[in-house]
Amino acid sequence: MTTDSTLTFIQPGHPLYAGELELRFRVLREPLGYTREQVAFPFEAQSLHLVAHEADTVLGCVLFNPEDAHGGRLFQMAVATHLQGQGLGARLVRALEDELRRRGFSQVHLHARAPAIPFYERLGYAVYGEPYSEVGIPHRNMRKSLGT
Ligand SMILES: CC(C)(COP(=O)(O)OP(=O)(O)OC[C@H]1O[C@@H](n2cnc3c(N)ncnc32)[C@H](O)[C@@H]1OP(=O)(O)O)[C@@H](O)C(=O)NCCC(=O)NCCS
Repeated sequence: MTTDSTLTFIQPGHPLYAGELELRFRVLREPLGYTREQVAFPFEAQSLHLVAHEADTVLGCVLFNPEDAHGGRLFQMAVATHLQGQGLGARLVRALEDELRRRGFSQVHLHARAPAIPFYERLGYAVYGEPYSEVGIPHRNMRKSLGT
């Protein structure tokens, strides 16, 4: 079922955007005690938003904020709880990376929650720098150079 979901790049204002925000709230923010008003980032409109969906139900997402001509930050990586561990997260990251290569980006960095580090490592991301806390959770910085 998961592998059948459709992957679509959207922007704020797209009919799937409300579903993306709701998924981000449920998976990434609500468990930490944040409100729906605290989900959006200041750079939503400048970011790429890739969503996995079945019809109008959003099941996963990953975002990328371009920071310069060469690269930027992957963020808000989320898969619906009942679908985690079935390959959808990896499929989203690989599809995002394909699009970034097409657009000429070569560097991706991200703030990984500690439990998600092995997920990113399997996708070729490497830890750098010291551990730190963000949104009350231990994090590490990770990065990857996109091959052509
Ligand atoms: C982290 C997350 C995005 C991963 O997506 P997913 O669809 O569950 O992961 P996948 O099924 O695509 O996993 C891909 C690979 O990573 C592995 N993996 C995933 N999560 C893992 C974990 N926590 N620990 C160890 N390995 C993990 C899988 O076993 C799989 O390995 P394989 O290639 O050998 O089969 C998802 O679990 C999620 O939304 N978690 C909650 C929110 C979160 O933590 N987001 C990241 C914030 S930085």
